[in-house]
Amino acid sequence: MTTVYLNGQYLPQDQALISPLDRGFTYGDGVYEMIRAYHGKIFLLAEHFARLASSCAKMRIGAHLTPLEAVSERLLRENGLTGDALIYVQITRGTAPRSHVFPPADTKPTVFAMAWAFTKNPAFDGPGAIAILEPDVRWSRCDIKVTSLVPNSMAAQRAKELGAHEGLFVRDGVVQEGSLSNFFAVFDGEVRTAPLSNYILPGITRAVVLDLCREHGIPYRETPVFATELADADELFLTSTPYDVVSIDCLDGRTLPAERPVTRRLAQLFRAVVERECA
Ligand SMILES: Cc1ncc(COP(=O)(O)O)c(C=O)c1O
Repeated sequence: MTTVYLNGQYLPQDQALISPLDRGFTYGDGVYEMIRAYHGKIFLLAEHFARLASSCAKMRIGAHLTPLEAVSERLLRENGLTGDALIYVQITRGTAPRSHVFPPADTKPTVFAMAWAFTKNPAFDGPGAIAILEPDVRWSRCDIKVTSLVPNSMAAQRAKELGAHEGLFVRDGVVQEGSLSNFFAVFDGEVRTAPLSNYILPGITRAVVLDLCREHGIPYRETPVFATELADADELFLTSTPYDVVSIDCLDGRTLPAERPVTRRLAQLFRAVVERECA
């Protein structure tokens, strides 16, 4: 039985129970993080916890995060996860009578975490991902990693039903990001991705890739990529905690050129960072 963490306790998953009045259940009122472990070692924990702290602050959820940092490690141990794994941490505004206004200030947030063995989709290391464009119907605070993921879930499901792996959100003509990834395009050797704004999540993998571009002299710009420009892109790729750096093989039925030197280089450089950090 999987061991999970709930409000200070490590429990078998089927004994981890929360109230139906939890704000996460009634309002989708919570934030989360998805953290990766490679070879049983946690990757970029501090960066993920910094974003979790930022999500909590933006949502005005007061949670003590420092004691939580040890939970990820312990969940890997408790569940014997010595290879690649994902760790999920969720914090909601807690349990309170249903009311739109926030619960009393002394309401304790609900804190939940779990971990599981993870295997990347083999297609991502082969030809790459199949993607489709989707209208971005999400709210205007996509910079906060909230648990209310209905539009993302609907986009992912629509992509799946069309035989694709990822839906890319287009707002005001700009390809903002995927339903669970950041989006990049390469034009004449220059990497471009949407600038940080309230319309995209500040991806941890995105930040590593931009650092790698800087470090290795790969030209890049954080500037909008318009859907109308996509036909001219030489390469397209996605980044996320579960994907790493994944080449897009086909977008809305157009297969990208098979030569993808920039994506391949960034994927290799990213892997080198992983191996250095998680050796
Ligand atoms: C909407 C969205 N954008 C981007 C990302 C990529 O972020 P990260 O690289 O931190 O996993 C995710 C990851 O889950 C996401 O859900």
